[in-house]
Amino acid sequence: MAKLPTEGLITALDVGSSKVSALIAQRTDSGSLVVLGTGQRESRGVKRGYVADMRATEIAIREAVEQAERIAGINIENVWVSFSAGGLVSDVVKLEADLGGHRVEQADIDELLKAGRDAIDPQGKMVLHAQPTRYTVDGLAGVKRPLGLHADRLGVDIHVVSTDGSPVRNLDLCVRSAHLEVRSIIAAPVATGLACLTEEERELGVALVEIGAGVTNVSVFAGGVLAGLASIPMGSADVTDDIASAFGTARQWAERTKCFHGSANLSPRDNRETIDVMPATPEESAADALRITKAQLNGIIRQRLERLMGEIQKELKKLGFQDPVGRQIVLTGGGAELKGIADYAQQALGSAVRVGRPRGLAALPDAHAGPAFTTLAGLARFAASDPIDLRSLEPSHQMVTRASPGAVLQRLMAAFRANY
Ligand SMILES: Nc1ncnc2c1ncn2[C@@H]1O[C@H](COP(=O)(O)OP(=O)(O)OP(=O)(O)O)[C@@H](O)[C@H]1O
Ligand SMILES: [Mg+2]
Repeated sequence: MAKLPTEGLITALDVGSSKVSALIAQRTDSGSLVVLGTGQRESRGVKRGYVADMRATEIAIREAVEQAERIAGINIENVWVSFSAGGLVSDVVKLEADLGGHRVEQADIDELLKAGRDAIDPQGKMVLHAQPTRYTVDGLAGVKRPLGLHADRLGVDIHVVSTDGSPVRNLDLCVRSAHLEVRSIIAAPVATGLACLTEEERELGVALVEIGAGVTNVSVFAGGVLAGLASIPMGSADVTDDIASAFGTARQWAERTKCFHGSANLSPRDNRETIDVMPATPEESAADALRITKAQLNGIIRQRLERLMGEIQKELKKLGFQDPVGRQIVLTGGGAELKGIADYAQQALGSAVRVGRPRGLAALPDAHAGPAFTTLAGLARFAASDPIDLRSLEPSHQMVTRASPGAVLQRLMAAFRANY
């Protein structure tokens, strides 16, 4: 494999409940992102977004990254990782300093940001993000670049996302056990929002609902930033399980049938179209096999969706996303692949709904261009945006960023040991 052209190279790693996916992209001189390679493995060690089996997760991570490396023809050393389990808390810390009417200098901004960093109280949680979003100049909010403006008072809004430490440390450990350096661990909704929402949507107000296999993340964006989030421990894998138990069949068949024949919409034709259920065990003869209508299948799917939409509605209300007029909801995650889900959600939630897919990456293979890969693409976009993080002003806060020299060699050695 080629030696590292590390300049501008970004690797994203999304460790989900159903799949682990990796993407290597190159940032070009013009600022665009070109995908060089992608990889994917079934995830066997993650339950509802939490690492439950370290070894299985580590192997899936290593294999997904190696596949992306083979396609890209390069070795990578560090990755940007998403964290999508529950427990994320999003907050905005506001701070103001007196400037006495002089023009804002870089030193004023630096002082303010340092004070901002000291003002963050994580309350025993681990801080994943601490990013200055907008400045306020003499009460005028939403200033992007205050440098050079005359100001009596300069304020800043700092967006802080924190979560419980242990699940993040477990994820961090799995990635490092796969001999990869962790550049940063990003709250999944922050990344997902970057890949499938427009800047205008984030500015005007939009809700993002990511239906994964085991987790549904609901987040609300307003004024350009993530204003609040909630996590529901239910996802598209629950639809699969419902189908499997309703018709006494194997999960694998239920999963395939959901993806091929399943729909959130009702159609009169569904009463006439039939599907032969595969028996759960090969001993059961074909004669015993159950034959169901598509209407029966979709009935099971809709029952689960009704529960899920009820939970989503509750969380949106708690997050203050109430007024449906003109408000947009964007559905993404693998669960948003289900036929007819946007129409169904529109009816159930009473807002305009569209399905969000990854955007902003050139040469993204079709197999990774669906809504299940929005977080992965968002991670790469987040990394490419060169985010300022206040924690970098203070090394002691960098709890999840560690350098590990020679990571590639260690990984090769581990792979060698695993195979022989
Ligand atoms: N065509 C389809 N129709 C219906 N469901 C689909 C389709 N394609 C994928 N899914 C479902 O999407 C889910 C996987 O979504 P996704 O890849 O976003 O989850 P994940 O990231 O692995 O898990 P999580 O984010 O919950 O930890 C699976 O349950 C799968 O059945
Ligand atoms: Mg996911």
